Amino acid sequence: MLNIQKIRADFPILNEKVNGKPLVYFDNGATSQKPQVVIDAIAKYYQEINANIHRGVHTLSQLATDAYEISRSKIQKHINAKHAHEVLFTSGTTFGINLVANGFASILKPGDEVMVSHLEHHSNIVPWQMLCEKTGATLKVIPMDENGELIMAEYDKLLSDKTKIVTVNHISNALGIINPVKYMIDKAHEVGAAVFIDGAQSAAHLRPDVQALDCDFYAFSGHKMCGPTGTGILYGKETWLNKLPPYQGGGEMIKEVTFEKTTYADLPHKFEAGTPNIAGGIVLGTAIDYLNEVGFENIQKQELELLEYGTKRLLEIEGLRIYGNSKNKTSVISFNIEGIHPYDIGSIIDKLGIAVRTGHHCAQPIMNFYSIPGTIRASFSFYNTKEEIDALVEAVKKAQLMLS
Ligand code: ALA
Repeated sequence: MLNIQKIRADFPILNEKVNGKPLVYFDNGATSQKPQVVIDAIAKYYQEINANIHRGVHTLSQLATDAYEISRSKIQKHINAKHAHEVLFTSGTTFGINLVANGFASILKPGDEVMVSHLEHHSNIVPWQMLCEKTGATLKVIPMDENGELIMAEYDKLLSDKTKIVTVNHISNALGIINPVKYMIDKAHEVGAAVFIDGAQSAAHLRPDVQALDCDFYAFSGHKMCGPTGTGILYGKETWLNKLPPYQGGGEMIKEVTFEKTTYADLPHKFEAGTPNIAGGIVLGTAIDYLNEVGFENIQKQELELLEYGTKRLLEIEGLRIYGNSKNKTSVISFNIEGIHPYDIGSIIDKLGIAVRTGHHCAQPIMNFYSIPGTIRASFSFYNTKEEIDALVEAVKKAQLMLS
C-alpha cells in the first residue's frame, strides 16, 4: 500500500499553485512530473562528472562513460533484454519508430505490407506511411470497435505472408486501452512478420518483459516515466539490429572511415551517432530506480483505484460520455460533455488549477472514428489522489454550468 502523501512529497511541483489554485496535474499521458531524486541527479551529473563519453582516456570521461553504460545495463535488466547492446539510447519514442521505419526501407519491396492499428498516435502512423511511399509497400490498418478495442478477428484476417512488420501501441495514448500485444506478436510471427511495440504510454505503468513478449522492437520515452525530456529507449532484438542499416551517420557509429569506404561500429554504437544526451541517459536510470522503489504493483494498484473512482465520479455528470470502455484500461479517462467543445472545458478548468489535455491527442483517426473534434483527457499517475479527482469533477461541473 502506497503512502501517497510521502510519495507526493517527492515531487516538488505538486506543491505549486497554478492560477492561484493548488495544481491538480492530470496530464501525465503527455509528460510525467519529476521526483527530487531525478532533479538532483541532473545537477549532480553536471557538477561532478560532466565529460564526453566513449572518447577520452581522462578520468571524467571514464566516469561519465561508466555511468552511462551502467544506466544502459539497468534498463536492460528493467525490460529483461537479453543483451545490453540491444538497448539503444534515443531522444524518445518518435526517434525509435523513425529509426526502425527508416531501416525497413532497405528491406521492403512493392507489394509488401506494413500493418498499423487504428489506435495509433500520429508518430506511429506517419513514419510507416513515409516508409510505404518510399518502398511501394501498402499500409494496412487493424480496425477498432466502439469500446476502443482492436478487433482481433479482423487482425487475424489481415495477416498474411505479405505482412512484413506490424506496429501497435502497448497502451493507447488517447483512450488508455491496453492492447493484447502478446497475442498480436505471436500471430504476426506465425506469418514471419516483425513486431514493433510503441511503449510510450505503457512504460510508466508496467514493466515490459521484452523476452516474454518476444517483440522484435519496443520503444519508450523517458519523460513520461519520471525521467528527463529528450530521453528514450529503443529495444531491438540483436538479429534485427544487425540487419538494419544505421539511421544516422557521424562520430561514434563507425569502426573505420576512409574516403573510399566506412565500416560501422558494433551494437549499440552503430545506432548512436554523435554526442548523446549523456545526463539524460544516466538520469533515466535514476528515474527507473525510483519507479522500481515505488514498485510497479503498487503503481498499478493506485492507478486502477483512481481509474475506477474517476470513472464513477465523472459519469455522475449529466451528458458526459467516456470514450474507450474496455476492461483492459490504464488510468486514462477521455471524455466529452454533450454540446460543449472540449477546448472550452479544458480552458475553464485550467483557471481552476487543473491540467488536462484537450484536443485530438495526436490521434486524429480515433477522433474521426467517433466523429468528434477531440476529447478532454485526464491521465492519472500514482501520485494523484481521489481528492484531486473530486476537484476535477467539481471544476467540470462548474464549466458545464458556465457554458450551457
Ligand atoms: N504523446 C503525448 C500525449 O499523448 C504527448 O499527450
